[in-house]
Amino acid sequence: MSAHQGATTRPLYSIAGAQAAPATGAACAAPDTSPAPARTVVEVLASTQVEAVLDEIDRELVGLLPVKQRIRDIAALLVIDRLRAAHGLAAQPPSLHMCFSGNPGTGKTTVASRMAQILHRLGYLRRGHLVAVTRDDLVGQYIGHTAPKTKEVLKKAMGGVLFIDEAYYLYRPENERDYGQEAIEILLQVMENQRDDIVVILAGYRDRMDTFFRSNPGLSSRIAHHLDFPDYVHDELMRIAGLMLREQSFRFDDAAVAAFAEYLVRRLRQPHFANARSVRNALDRARLRQASRLFAERSRELSREDLVTLRAQDIRASRLFTEPADPTTTPPEHAA
Ligand SMILES: Nc1ncnc2c1ncn2[C@@H]1O[C@H](COP(=O)(O)OP(=O)(O)OP(=O)(O)O)[C@@H](O)[C@H]1O
Ligand SMILES: [Mg+2]
Repeated sequence: MSAHQGATTRPLYSIAGAQAAPATGAACAAPDTSPAPARTVVEVLASTQVEAVLDEIDRELVGLLPVKQRIRDIAALLVIDRLRAAHGLAAQPPSLHMCFSGNPGTGKTTVASRMAQILHRLGYLRRGHLVAVTRDDLVGQYIGHTAPKTKEVLKKAMGGVLFIDEAYYLYRPENERDYGQEAIEILLQVMENQRDDIVVILAGYRDRMDTFFRSNPGLSSRIAHHLDFPDYVHDELMRIAGLMLREQSFRFDDAAVAAFAEYLVRRLRQPHFANARSVRNALDRARLRQASRLFAERSRELSREDLVTLRAQDIRASRLFTEPADPTTTPPEHAA
């Protein structure tokens, strides 16, 4: 029986707490004093605490407006689906498999794990965890290796979200005996037959995903939601840097803000720019330089201010400020 069908006979308030019942021993034959099932959107939102996750997404993720809107649309669909179920109205378990397309560092993995939380709170996933994999985790090197590998991953992901990054690498048309095809076939079966217990999110570059779906119509037809993750613009990247610094108890002084803004202008022009991931990497390198700078001041007492502040020189020491932009050289991401 699917979780969703189960929900038609289960009052709404128990959906989010369904997991806790066996653990707390609440499953014994106590008189039913449970409150009436939720009948309004507000009641469902309150009983499942989905609103809290949606608010967190709004607060903690910069930009991504179209993605945030799609997430709210999906949540709305599921809440209404719950209310329909409470009225005994016909309800198919909804197909929740998704495709997240976008360039590296645009937040796909981060949003996938929030999506898993939302689906868990609304009762569509038992556990709500995220298992992130790539081709190598699913496909074996030798005959007979792929099926057990793929099944093992699926077993780990049951009750949650299986996130397959750069999913198109599963399909290699140039090699007709590629084992990726075997993994795809197993995935297809599970996506169809166990969709009440697992949500598959396929992720990768937009154009390559499109080609992949054209060659694999079976997969394409099982994807209910396509979310497109746009690249961040300069101002969003600055705000993302601010969030990341705050998270780690660091700050830029005014000169560092200006230096980082300039750094990003230069970095955006370089190859292999990976959006928020490049911001995180740049901040990591700035922290290294700050540490070396402070380390050199052996006998000075370091104040809290010293320890939290990244200065312009910690940014401007980057190669990007000393070398002319040359797209044929190693991107700074891979260099010190
Ligand atoms: N909108 C955002 N606001 C704040 N932080 C963000 C945002 N998007 C991404 N990040 C941060 O940037 C980093 C990279 O994000 P994430 O791994 O989710 O991107 P991705 O699209 O999965 O990238 P990749 O393809 O490189 O795996 C993470 O540390 C994440 O927290
Ligand atoms: Mg990722």
